[in-house]
Amino acid sequence: MNSKLIAPSVLAADFANLQRDIEMVNTSDADWFHIDIMDGVFVPNISFGMPVLDAISKHAKKTIDVHLMIVDPDRYIKTFADLGSNILTVHYEACTHLHRTLQAIKAHGMKAGVALNPHTNINVLEDTIIDIDLVCLMSVNPGFGGQSFIENTYNKVKQLKELITKKGASTKIEIDGGVTNKNAKQLVDAGADVLVAGSYVFKSENQIETIKDLKALANS
Ligand code: DX5
Ligand code: ZN
Repeated sequence: MNSKLIAPSVLAADFANLQRDIEMVNTSDADWFHIDIMDGVFVPNISFGMPVLDAISKHAKKTIDVHLMIVDPDRYIKTFADLGSNILTVHYEACTHLHRTLQAIKAHGMKAGVALNPHTNINVLEDTIIDIDLVCLMSVNPGFGGQSFIENTYNKVKQLKELITKKGASTKIEIDGGVTNKNAKQLVDAGADVLVAGSYVFKSENQIETIKDLKALANS
């Protein structure tokens, strides 16, 4: 059984052919759609917003994993639930009352995720990990696709896995940024459950094959 999941990041798709790229993911071995929402404030870039996610939702046949890189994400929890998000991930660094935010996400019927920037120690989740369905470890500084993987991520995955085990939580670990066939195996061996891959998938010649190979590698 394949237990490690692949989540292509739509940020790297061809927006002029978005439906084609969504259908490609639908027919591939990928498990989730990873959707990056950026506000130009929390991160120095603006990606796309609600109308685009609405369009994606209409065609996507797999889990929609939304990664909010926005300040004060509580304002939009209902909106993202209404748009068909299955998992809603907020940044630890953007939440003043993280526990309340997690409760609100769940109250709206979604799984609750928390993303950590590369500079944020995993220990900050000590008191909330039991309430978190997914931790998204940023393996690049958020804001852009196509950046190089930060090697310290392996240590963070191991530390996070230990924390999850120690607390008896069932949290999944997702890795986001610079994932390729060069680091996928080492990441799952360290404890990762979900690999987000943007450029590596969408800039490849044969996207279906790239996803298939990445998934096989992650489950080898
Ligand atoms: C970065 C985003 C990532 C990005 C990954 O801020 O959160 O999801 O799309 O893209 P690649 O795989 O190209 O690093
Ligand atoms: Zn992301």
